[in-house]
Amino acid sequence: MKLLCILPSSILWAVQTLAMPADPEGIESFAPVPDANALFKRAPQHCGTFKFKCKSSAGACNNACYYINCVNKGRADFTYGTSAVDNRVHSGCWTTNKEATLCRTKPFVQRFWDRQDDDVAPKPLSCDEFPMNAFRQGPYQQGTIRNSLRCINAKENSSGGSQFLQFRDAKGDWAKGGKLAGSRDCEGKMKDGDTFKVDWIIDGDDGISNADQDKRVPYCKPNPKCDNDGHQFHMSKLQVNDKGVGNLSNPYNYENDNHYALTGKSDIKEYRATIERKEDWASIDVFEVAGSKRIDKGTASGAFGDGKQLKVELEKLSHILRVYGSGGIGTKVTFIYAKSDADTLSDLSFSDGDIGWTTDDKSQKGRWCVSEQWGGKDGDSRMEIIQCSFPGLA
Ligand SMILES: *[C@@H]1O[C@H](CO)[C@@H](O)[C@H](O)[C@H]1NC(C)=O
Ligand SMILES: *[C@@H]1O[C@H](CO)[C@@H](O)[C@H](O)[C@H]1NC(C)=O
Repeated sequence: MKLLCILPSSILWAVQTLAMPADPEGIESFAPVPDANALFKRAPQHCGTFKFKCKSSAGACNNACYYINCVNKGRADFTYGTSAVDNRVHSGCWTTNKEATLCRTKPFVQRFWDRQDDDVAPKPLSCDEFPMNAFRQGPYQQGTIRNSLRCINAKENSSGGSQFLQFRDAKGDWAKGGKLAGSRDCEGKMKDGDTFKVDWIIDGDDGISNADQDKRVPYCKPNPKCDNDGHQFHMSKLQVNDKGVGNLSNPYNYENDNHYALTGKSDIKEYRATIERKEDWASIDVFEVAGSKRIDKGTASGAFGDGKQLKVELEKLSHILRVYGSGGIGTKVTFIYAKSDADTLSDLSFSDGDIGWTTDDKSQKGRWCVSEQWGGKDGDSRMEIIQCSFPGLA
């Protein structure tokens, strides 16, 4: 039997000969009717160039540009289609902590939420991954950057996703006659295995005003500086549980949970500080919690109060944590870690009153620190314990 077939949307001619097996016993046997589509492996098409319209998805653009320009050395070719693994789990964006997601879980929320200006990344933020979920990708491999992650404005995140779906389905600006149709090279909806390039629009109606490009889409400019702006990170270890989902617990447990690294730097860990205050004196303990283990990082004690500071040298970390008092018990305490021009990525400063996004109170805004006070009656001295958690680099 000879079949000749012209695939409708390509110039490919496929000719295949199906040799029917010899019938050894001379008995008529019938093979099941073959599925005509299954006989031919459809040749993938190249569908031209998907262009992000950065106006409505600056954060997603910037993340894609960082991956392409800074991680992937300029290579912008991708394949659309199913992957053997769940891409969101293998990118690190989806974890067991679905309620709050990565970008709303301590210590990541503290690092990525508080340090971004509202005019660049209006809250709430959600985890964006590039390559995108809809692209064909292999499983996560330790030691590689599979996806660039960035906590971006949630609306920009979904706009980036729906822009790609329009390109895939030849809709909107990508439909016949649409303003971007010229860069789409294949007919009809894209199919599993089709390839395309990724590009972005930062100028004009679909772009970002010139004045804002450096702030909002720096990695999309020609020949960008690839220094991490402090918001590009990636999963550095995947710890899947028995349901195939990456572990992320609350509180964060570096021992059992996924690891995430600030790209070009090191893993982000959760540190805690406990401060005990009594009159004009304080003692400070800084430690890391890894499962049931408490790993001490440093301690200091001494006079504390208005304008006084305590310095904690942190083991294995290159900088000193400075803790400033502003008055008596119950007044503001400020933490400053690093603050050098040479190493701004490690910088961190917060006050015990700072508000972050926590998971403890159902994704409500929460404090970096909690404090408890007692005493002060019948001549007892007043005491205070302040407990803070903060992100540190490994
Ligand atoms: C948006 O968020 C989801 C997960 O929360 C992620 O999988 C997806 O890749 C993100 N980005 C885009 C552009 O859709
Ligand atoms: C995921 O977390 C659970 C609970 O903490 C732990 O029992 C399990 O070993 C973790 N999985 C991995 C692969 O570390």
